Amino acid sequence: MTNEAIPNLTAFDDTALDKAFAALEAQARESAAGLDSEADVEAFRLEWLGRKQGRLNEVSGRWLKAAPPEAKKALGVRFNALKEVVEGLLDAALAGGPGDAALKAEAIDITLPGTRRLTGAEHPITRTMNEIVGVFAALGYSVGVGPEVETDYYNFESMNFPPGHPARDTQDTLVVAGQDRKPLRDRLLLRTHTSPVQMRTMEQQPPPVRIVIPGKVHRNDAADATHSPIFHQVEGLCVDANITFSDLKGTLDHAMKALFGSAVKTRFFPSFFPFTEPSADVQISCIFCGGKGCRKCKQSGWIELLGCGMVDPAVFAFAAEKQPAYDAKQISGFAFGMGVERIAMMKYGISEIGSFFAGDMRFLSQFV
Ligand code: PHE
Repeated sequence: MTNEAIPNLTAFDDTALDKAFAALEAQARESAAGLDSEADVEAFRLEWLGRKQGRLNEVSGRWLKAAPPEAKKALGVRFNALKEVVEGLLDAALAGGPGDAALKAEAIDITLPGTRRLTGAEHPITRTMNEIVGVFAALGYSVGVGPEVETDYYNFESMNFPPGHPARDTQDTLVVAGQDRKPLRDRLLLRTHTSPVQMRTMEQQPPPVRIVIPGKVHRNDAADATHSPIFHQVEGLCVDANITFSDLKGTLDHAMKALFGSAVKTRFFPSFFPFTEPSADVQISCIFCGGKGCRKCKQSGWIELLGCGMVDPAVFAFAAEKQPAYDAKQISGFAFGMGVERIAMMKYGISEIGSFFAGDMRFLSQFV
């Protein structure tokens, strides 16, 4: 915008006024045509309508003052008309957005192929975890979580794995380095199971408790088709007066039918976990052959799916240090823990656990 300075006016007859104002209007229109940005529009406003240095202000100051009294009216009318034109140009610039140049720069070639935005979807592990949690939520369970970096106390000691106890060897543990000066119970490790959240939950609230705990766990296991050093579990804990092994069986039988179909049968095999007594492994009738025996179930007709048992009184004793209501003479409970990958592999017919973690879209996009 290169506008000439406002000239002094020497003649004030109609023709001279028309010519002078027409010249200004032409300049204003020309300036307004090149406004490409908000900053341009604002500069235009300041240049023409600015209170102190604006051109219209200058015109009224210089021309109106210099005009002989009989020409003031004719000049005033033209001045107001010009002012309206300039304001109109400003309004149009504000409403119309950027001018030609900016529009050209923004122009879209609608013949180009578009940018495809892929819709996200739940990872099959997340989906399976939510499905398991949903089955228990429908039974009135609430959902809890706990830290993945856990202390020795919560992961082992309070779950009744005493220091040095051989049961610790069943969960090959990844420990955080450089903590030898801490007491053993405070040393950090990557939790090997979600069971420590049982204790964290009980410390936070007195019985009754019904809670499921989905989460990631870590073990120093070599990866193969069915093992991964990182995997997921859903833990369950139910504590109240008069909870029996029948409640445990009924609950898990219902859950397995909800997850794998109502034809599925369950059976409970004696097992051992330090934090439950008695303990059991739950097997379901093979969902591939219906129990007749096939390669998947090694001809047995059964597939082992999860661990469970009645909460060991020793675990309640640890909880009672913070919440005295966990008195094994007054209450009882059951707990269970299941591997999410194993369940997802069965449900979706996946043979390599590594597929879940490889990030291969050809695998993942089958779950959209
Ligand atoms: N924490 C056990 C495991 O990881 C599973 C389990 C949980 C067993 C709760 C019994 C009760 O192997």
